[in-house]
Amino acid sequence: MRFGTFLFLALPLAAAAQTKPVAARVDSVLALMTLEELVGQTNQYNGFWNATGPMPAGNEWVAARVAALKRGGVGSVLNVAGVDEVRALQKVAVEETRMGIPLIFGLDVIHGYQTLTPIPLAEAASWDLEAIKNSARAAAREATADGINWTFAPMVDISRDPRWGRVMEGAGEDPFLGSRIAEARVRGFQGANLSDPTTLAACLKHFAGYGFAVAGRDYHTTDYSAHTLYNWILPPFEAGVKAGAATVMNAFSAANGIPATGDSALVWGELRGRMGFDGVLVSDWGSIGEMTAHGYAADLRDAADRALAAGCDIDMESDAYLRYGVELARRNPTDSVRIREAARRILTLKFELGVMDDPYRYCGATKPDVRPDAYEMAVKSSVLLKNSGVLPLAAGVHVGLTGPLAAEKNGVLGNWRVSAKDQSAQSLAEAVAGQWTYVASSPHSVGQEAFHAELTLNQTDTRANDVALKALRKHDVLVLAVGEHGNESGEGRSRTSLRISAVQQDLIRKAYATGKQVVLVVYAGRPLVLEPWIRDGAAAILWAWQPGTMGGSALADVLTGRREAYGRLPMTFPRSEGQIPLSYDGYSTGRPGPKPEVFWSHYTDESNTPAYPFGFGLSYTSFEYRDLVVTPSAQGWTASVTVRNTGTRAGSDVVQLYVGRQGNGQLYPVKALKGFKRLTLEPGSEARVSIELPLEALTQRDGQGRNVLFAHGTLTVTVGPHSQDGLTWTTQMP
Ligand code: GLC
Repeated sequence: MRFGTFLFLALPLAAAAQTKPVAARVDSVLALMTLEELVGQTNQYNGFWNATGPMPAGNEWVAARVAALKRGGVGSVLNVAGVDEVRALQKVAVEETRMGIPLIFGLDVIHGYQTLTPIPLAEAASWDLEAIKNSARAAAREATADGINWTFAPMVDISRDPRWGRVMEGAGEDPFLGSRIAEARVRGFQGANLSDPTTLAACLKHFAGYGFAVAGRDYHTTDYSAHTLYNWILPPFEAGVKAGAATVMNAFSAANGIPATGDSALVWGELRGRMGFDGVLVSDWGSIGEMTAHGYAADLRDAADRALAAGCDIDMESDAYLRYGVELARRNPTDSVRIREAARRILTLKFELGVMDDPYRYCGATKPDVRPDAYEMAVKSSVLLKNSGVLPLAAGVHVGLTGPLAAEKNGVLGNWRVSAKDQSAQSLAEAVAGQWTYVASSPHSVGQEAFHAELTLNQTDTRANDVALKALRKHDVLVLAVGEHGNESGEGRSRTSLRISAVQQDLIRKAYATGKQVVLVVYAGRPLVLEPWIRDGAAAILWAWQPGTMGGSALADVLTGRREAYGRLPMTFPRSEGQIPLSYDGYSTGRPGPKPEVFWSHYTDESNTPAYPFGFGLSYTSFEYRDLVVTPSAQGWTASVTVRNTGTRAGSDVVQLYVGRQGNGQLYPVKALKGFKRLTLEPGSEARVSIELPLEALTQRDGQGRNVLFAHGTLTVTVGPHSQDGLTWTTQMP
């Protein structure tokens, strides 16, 4: 068995070496490497059987890749999981290459590994940073037990456009909430020490602006202003970098005439410059090579050169660096430095992960049971949008359950379920078996369900709807599980219509016609558009998102009141697609309204207001806010308010603090979230809640990226239960 030179050199010195600073150890390895080996570290290949992106036809490529691995031409791998597979590949890298440098293994552990928590947009709806951090921690514990040490998460793309299917993967529309969640998820994945074999290197993605795809169409050009870039798009990346994120991923998209993967100014000016990120920047799948498809690069060599110049360290699946890295370095000393610096950052990550001292470090843990964590997160993610009083369902009420998502065990896992076993979710029907009566209605989709394939919806067959409603005609309350299959949102899943399908609308309409109380449990990877008749006819609407592996019992416990309705919306729900992009934090415009004549900013055929606003969600109790007082503090202000539980059950509310700023020569959102606190109260009790508002929180960047302090003008502070309601305080800054 041939030991790699590196391994041979390192082993005897391992003990002493481990006391040396990582930078010195990296230097000592770099000094032994050839240019080809340096380039090899920058090359990332997909696993030899799984794919999360377009793959070449046929399989002659497998032999070529194994050969590349054996000559030190692969530095990391994605979509390989399982201790046996990881160990097998690692063995080749460590024992059959000259240097013996171990691989690192990346995977999209987006919201869980084999046990799936709710989709990230759902987790964001919990507004519970501890729960979100714990969810990421649980995912890391499970994934690392299968040899994974790097996740391509958290996705921190801000978006106001639910037509874009990848909103399911993010934290919604707000940069403050998105930043806090980015921090929580990075800390959950990475823990206190990256070399801990139960932690994952996190990856902030997609840098940058991917969520502003024109018309919500995935992979489309993105269009955003500098103001939006600096004050909405970049803050969650900055928060994640400050939280210590080890890696960042480029976006596929192009903005301002430049693909993100080739945008040197964005990377060197903002990411590595202003934010000080010195970790690894990995391209998104093929995004280096796709700069030719964008029409930006002349060919793959040119694309490689431009990506290198833009600070991209690892080439995921373009083969650009492996093919042209050596040639570029020999032709241009600057490229030679760039490749060496990329290798330096990659080796630093490998030392920090501990694999340089123990290549099989992530191949030994026993897999934990994280279903309790998934259950808890699912309970906290659902959002109660309407309740006439029918919820929580009282004991003794005869409940009929139907709808195509009621018994669904795949679609409720969400689209990023690459590692979960098929049919592994607990469905709502399973969770209530023996208590409610479940009867199948017409199917939502027909044919193949797969990560890479279009989903074919049942557009016509409503026969089973009639059968189900007839079978449930004697029940007191009907619960209809409707909405999207998990393969209707996520990557490559943009929609122009956000309506519930025709066959499901048939079921809903006929259920309403029975005159019974109908509870809609809506599964979706995004905000949907519910027509007024659907919203008005429901006795209750519980937004279930895609709740993951334990969604069945989690939703059953919320519907029956064993657990409270907890969530608040992280994204605005539009009344119609025509309003999109729609978010709570828009500008006033020069013609706010309403006005009697038409000359104000509005539609002639739709309201400007959302169906359900950002931050909104009901509880099973009610809350009253009073006595807002805002007092100066050392850092800025302290806003205090009294909240009272005026209902008959214990419950919690998310007290939200928004600011309005006017009159200092800058445009500001009419209101912007700057703080929140969750408060739990027994019935009849009240509490005084204080939220700090530091002065620097009022700062925003102007179109040139300069920080502009809010030193004078009108400051408005609103504290309440969501973005459209609250107590207000105003002051004139000097
Ligand atoms: C995909 C996604 C990215 C993911 C990567 C690896 O195309 O855009 O988010 O991490 O490829 O699967």
